[in-house]
Amino acid sequence: MRKPLIAANWKMYRAPAGAWDDGSPYLPHVEVDVIVLPSALDLERAVGVGCVTGGQYGHPEAKGAHTGDISIQMLKDLGCTYHLCGHSERRRDHHETDAMVGAQVKAALELGLLPIACIGETLEERDSGKAKEVVKRQLSAFLPLLEEPNSESRIPNLEVRISNLELVIAYEPVWAIGTGKSATPELAQEMHAFIRSVLPAHRQASTRILYGGSAKPETARGLMQQQDIDGLLVGAASIIPHDFAAITASALPL
Ligand code: PGA
Repeated sequence: MRKPLIAANWKMYRAPAGAWDDGSPYLPHVEVDVIVLPSALDLERAVGVGCVTGGQYGHPEAKGAHTGDISIQMLKDLGCTYHLCGHSERRRDHHETDAMVGAQVKAALELGLLPIACIGETLEERDSGKAKEVVKRQLSAFLPLLEEPNSESRIPNLEVRISNLELVIAYEPVWAIGTGKSATPELAQEMHAFIRSVLPAHRQASTRILYGGSAKPETARGLMQQQDIDGLLVGAASIIPHDFAAITASALPL
């Protein structure tokens, strides 16, 4: 019941050659949701050629004196469907806190964008046995947004203009991102099952949980075969069209 989602996170790279051509692997598919998260400079072009896109970062305020920023509202106006929130590189480079990530998720939901909320522990946190504790703390910054309207833990005054709140979660262990060291399917599955168990009961079956961290054509199918892995957030391999196409193929039913 959960449609696979394969996301190309181009990070601070321009669009790869051929990305805008007919037959580009970044264009939408029928059986898999293929989406592209380009840099701000390539976003308009990506929308123009028909890609389903998301912003890599947007300020939760609609506009204002924030030099260098673009807002989630601007991303929405440009034609984005998704919005990446709290990627670990943003947490590291721009000191994004759980509270800031929560504000981004809330703003995206209010605008009708689908947030992809990133969570994941560092190697130090895993080695000290705190991986689940960290992930649970990161989740607590935005999960109350998904509570039923009459629930006490729901954040008040959330003016959501869409009736069907949907949130995508990306589990990205920091030690696996950009390192070539992907988590094993078993390790990822264990954490994904834990994350699902922490979601509000009425969201558990429907929420898509992506894995991210050195996903490659060779590892993608093993990851995608896990019960609680619903897709992949792909960085380095997503800038190589051939590799990205192979990863998307691994998400198709056998
Ligand atoms: P990676 O990046 O595939 O290069 O590890 C994943 C991500 O950061 O989203």
